[in-house]
Amino acid sequence: MTATLTGAVGQPLPHESARGHVSGRAAYCDDIPEPVGTLHAALGLSPVAHGRLLGIDLARLQALPGVVAVYTAADIPGPNDCGPIVHDDPILADGTLRYLGQPVFAVVAESRDAARRAAAQAKAVLQIEPLPAQLDLRAAHAAADWVVPPMHLSRATHPGGVDAAMAEAPHRLSGRWTLGGQEQFYLEGQISFALPQDDGGLLVHCSTQHPSEMQALIGHALHLPSHAVQVSCRRMGGGFGGKESQSALFACVAALAARRLQRPVKLRVDRDDDFLITGRRHGFEFDWAVGFDDAGRVLALEITLLGDAGHSADLSPPVMTRALCHIDNACWLPNVALHGYLPRTNRQSNTAFRGFGGPQGALVTEVILDHIAHHRSIDLLAVHRANWYGTTERNVTPYGQVVEDNVIAPLVDQLSVSADYAKRRAEVALFNAASPVLKKGLALSPVKFGISFNVNHYNQAGALVHVYLDGSVLVNHGGTEMGQGLNTKVAQVVAHELGLPIGRVRCSATDTSKVANTSATAASTGADLNGQAAQDATRRIRERLAALQAAEWQLPTADIVFVDGQLRAPDGRSVEFNALVQRAYVARVQLWSEGFYATPGLHWDRATLTGKPFYYFAYGAAVSEVLLDTLTGEWRLLRADLLHDAGRSLNPALDIGQIEGAFVQGMGWLTSEELVWHPQTGALLTHAPSTYKVPTANDVPDALHTRLFENANVADSIHRSKAVGEPPLLLAFSVWLALRDAVAATGAPGCQPPLTAPATPEALLRAIDAVRD
Ligand code: MTE
Ligand code: MOS
Repeated sequence: MTATLTGAVGQPLPHESARGHVSGRAAYCDDIPEPVGTLHAALGLSPVAHGRLLGIDLARLQALPGVVAVYTAADIPGPNDCGPIVHDDPILADGTLRYLGQPVFAVVAESRDAARRAAAQAKAVLQIEPLPAQLDLRAAHAAADWVVPPMHLSRATHPGGVDAAMAEAPHRLSGRWTLGGQEQFYLEGQISFALPQDDGGLLVHCSTQHPSEMQALIGHALHLPSHAVQVSCRRMGGGFGGKESQSALFACVAALAARRLQRPVKLRVDRDDDFLITGRRHGFEFDWAVGFDDAGRVLALEITLLGDAGHSADLSPPVMTRALCHIDNACWLPNVALHGYLPRTNRQSNTAFRGFGGPQGALVTEVILDHIAHHRSIDLLAVHRANWYGTTERNVTPYGQVVEDNVIAPLVDQLSVSADYAKRRAEVALFNAASPVLKKGLALSPVKFGISFNVNHYNQAGALVHVYLDGSVLVNHGGTEMGQGLNTKVAQVVAHELGLPIGRVRCSATDTSKVANTSATAASTGADLNGQAAQDATRRIRERLAALQAAEWQLPTADIVFVDGQLRAPDGRSVEFNALVQRAYVARVQLWSEGFYATPGLHWDRATLTGKPFYYFAYGAAVSEVLLDTLTGEWRLLRADLLHDAGRSLNPALDIGQIEGAFVQGMGWLTSEELVWHPQTGALLTHAPSTYKVPTANDVPDALHTRLFENANVADSIHRSKAVGEPPLLLAFSVWLALRDAVAATGAPGCQPPLTAPATPEALLRAIDAVRD
């Protein structure tokens, strides 16, 4: 627990591109210089939510100024599919139009402007027979039209099963709850730039979290072997899950056009089109019933989850799996029955978004616990305390994994003290008693989040480390940089192994020609997987260097330490790292190495939804206090206290950045970011920041206290750190719960504000109207 880390690991170093980010010098895909002859593509979109495509007036498009070519599904040599799992995602619509915004054709033109002007003619050139659109999640569910078969997960400790436990519970509540989706709103939109290479090959610069999958899907669509397709990504201007699978359509179209025309082709979509074409976080509908005792202890829980898949499966099946595996959050559920459905609607296909279904699953349980708290007139924190997972008993998740690293109770105890929870709870009550219009709300919410991909084989990574003769080190790994600081963390791991200052180590673009068959950078596993792989590669080089020096010093290799740019012996002898590298080269010692990592001990049975899907859990908790104007529905977050478990942090500065960023992003999801589709046409009406409200710097409270919870990982993760990319998004539950608390203060004790999410001012006013005395 107390061993200190030397070298770069554990240091609060700035993001390797921080200066580039703020100065504008960091190059994104669109900043790559365009070779002479570069063409630009734009997509013509379906103007209807559902219809039969009868024809396209290609001649009319081809005659438009600047247009070089127009492609449709018929021009794709291979399968017209870019779906990641079920393969039900056409690249360009073929026969049936499935949602308003679906790409139907691609125009390639001499300029981006010309391509967009031509693509904007979609309505005029498409002959369509409109069909009735399914825009209602519950209606699609009632029609049993699901993108994949239903998933059921249940566990009972009661001999009579979940139903008997429910029937015998002293108290029962049930309800329905609606939770909206969320747009990733990466600042850099979807983009791909494809360049024909020697001998029929293609180089595709793509803003993607999953270069290997882009390579595979491009090869698939174009009938090219993977060795002929090189996909590269230096960095993304954010991905947030939106570029895990859904970068594929853009990559395939740019690649198709570049291959057909043998000219470089770039496809960069406009923000509004990005909203219309791509999916986002799944909105959910829940039907729940809970049985509990006097103390608020959950005895039985049954939940039906409807996840808004949209028109295709995309990543919806694993998103639902993760939702089901996070229903428990930090709570022991002795008897639980969960039913997950993914109804098909004529909307964008929903996909990964930070937390990947986990937040939706965990939040509904928090909402249910809040109902229990109101029903019993017990503070929500007391209800939580009655329900924590134990450490030696009451510690098996509904899917059968034993929780071996539970720290939720001490973590929450620490936070409730540092945030002065009890005193502020009393102050809020006093304030509300004296204030008829402005009401305060306060809530504490916990987080437990499983780390690893549920799909076992994704939990692997590779790396390639080169030590050059000047002693500088270049690292390649399978992960992608999207702002989260992965390259910084991996460079720290490598610098630490070789005892070098961080400036001597550089991570280069993620590239399918350097590290093959990589997993998506997702599920927060980037640093866990790629850090281990890079450590493995670096250790191989270090061993060789140490052996060379040990032979000269006549010492065991293990006695040699790498520190401060030197190799040192216990007796004080030392040699400069750079000098040894030179000598190693002359001695014909290999100065580069690959590395590999596969997370041990995981297993998962997709049929029964049981196993050990997670290597470990990350924990956290937050206290939020809001002030609500009950006449206008406007509100402010007055103060937030975040305590989060990043294990033994690889980089506390980056981790705190991730925690605060995720918290604010989660707050946006649950309060201001509302997606509205036209109920008849199925048009997404909120397709730009003018109508879709992401939080801004102004929404960050003046009092934001973020701390890391000291807690070395029990699992043998990279330097005992913990993944931090997604879990802290769940800290934002406290904001929504604090708003519900404030609304409840307008009603009689024990009232249940019917507050939905996002808690927009309209939703808040509706809930206030429903409970006001
Ligand atoms: N942070 C920034 N700045 N930009 C992003 O796009 N994506 C999040 C999270 N943090 C994201 C981010 C998501 S969805 C995931 S899964 C993780 O980062 C992925 O990176 P990691 O595995 O290296 O944490
Ligand atoms: Mo993150 S939703 O796993 O890309």
